[in-house]
Amino acid sequence: METGLKVLITGGTGSVGRELCKFLTEQHIEVSILSRSKRSNSTYKTYLWDHENFLIDNNAFENIDYIIHLAGAGIADKRWTESRKKEILDSRVKTTALLYKALSKSKHKVKGIISASAVGFYGQKTSETIFKEEDQPGNDFVASVCTAWEAAVNKFQDLGMRTVNLRIGIVLMKKGGALEKMAQPFYWNVGAPLGNGKQIIPWIHITDLNRIILQAIQSPQMEGPYNCCAPDPVSNSEFSIQLAEVLGKHIWLPKVPSWALRLILGNRAVLLTEGSRVSSDKILNTNYEFKYPKLLPALRDLLPSKP
Ligand SMILES: NC(=O)c1ccc[n+]([C@@H]2O[C@H](COP(=O)([O-])OP(=O)(O)OC[C@H]3O[C@@H](n4cnc5c(N)ncnc54)[C@H](OP(=O)(O)O)[C@@H]3O)[C@@H](O)[C@H]2O)c1
Repeated sequence: METGLKVLITGGTGSVGRELCKFLTEQHIEVSILSRSKRSNSTYKTYLWDHENFLIDNNAFENIDYIIHLAGAGIADKRWTESRKKEILDSRVKTTALLYKALSKSKHKVKGIISASAVGFYGQKTSETIFKEEDQPGNDFVASVCTAWEAAVNKFQDLGMRTVNLRIGIVLMKKGGALEKMAQPFYWNVGAPLGNGKQIIPWIHITDLNRIILQAIQSPQMEGPYNCCAPDPVSNSEFSIQLAEVLGKHIWLPKVPSWALRLILGNRAVLLTEGSRVSSDKILNTNYEFKYPKLLPALRDLLPSKP
């Protein structure tokens, strides 16, 4: 099947991006990448940009139908010092602004931009609320990053382009994502729930995220924010139990207290110790069918089976 569609992916070298490039190529969509550096072994045509110096190769937009914007410094990767916080924000908002400036000045046929955002938009706190797309943003650091990032993406509407902001939950995948780190203590038989264990983990299997992005490319009616989380969010305790079950391990240690996580990770520990439910109704109402709506089969698909 020849679709003739061409997409440009920023952050196509990252953990989600690598999986997405492969998936879209299998769907006969031509993929190229916008990156800060060229990798000699890359399968995909790579163009360069440098948002700090406002540099971008305008050839990147030639014949492109959609931009998928995934670039951004890892939110959980390092301690949230002031300079790291600036890097996390700039690598999302300034890159978006650079894309906007380049497209507003050049002749192109780009019809839309589909951008990553995160469930952190609603704020990182444990509550009974089930957050929907029309809800107000939270007022912590990650919420402010997501708000500024989505606002920068929405500006593309001025250029007559369709904008889609995907508020993504924790992406479960085999390599490179959070699951590898979450599973590690369980392999060592020291896995345990974190904090009080009641915080909710909104998660999504990488296959579903890829399929939602494909749907967003192919459906002109998809516009605005969409929560991208499976309809079965679970508490941290429940996640730990299911993870242990799939790996054939036992949980024998007490929960890891929040203060200990704060000591090790600093402020970003909040990403592990707090979390609320996020509704998947809006994406379900587009007739999207999750391949992995439940956690246990998702984990069984991604992790090696028990010894
Ligand atoms: N993974 C998740 O669970 C999850 C959950 C919610 C939201 N998201 C969002 O989805 C997007 C993709 O996630 P991911 O896990 O694939 O991220 P990732 O593995 O950290 O990759 C992000 C890519 O962004 C580019 N990048 C990194 N630092 C940068 C900087 N300082 N300035 C400009 N570009 C930079 C890099 O591409 P180059 O080196 O090629 O430039 C990198 O490959 C991110 O924006 C993330 O916030 C992810």
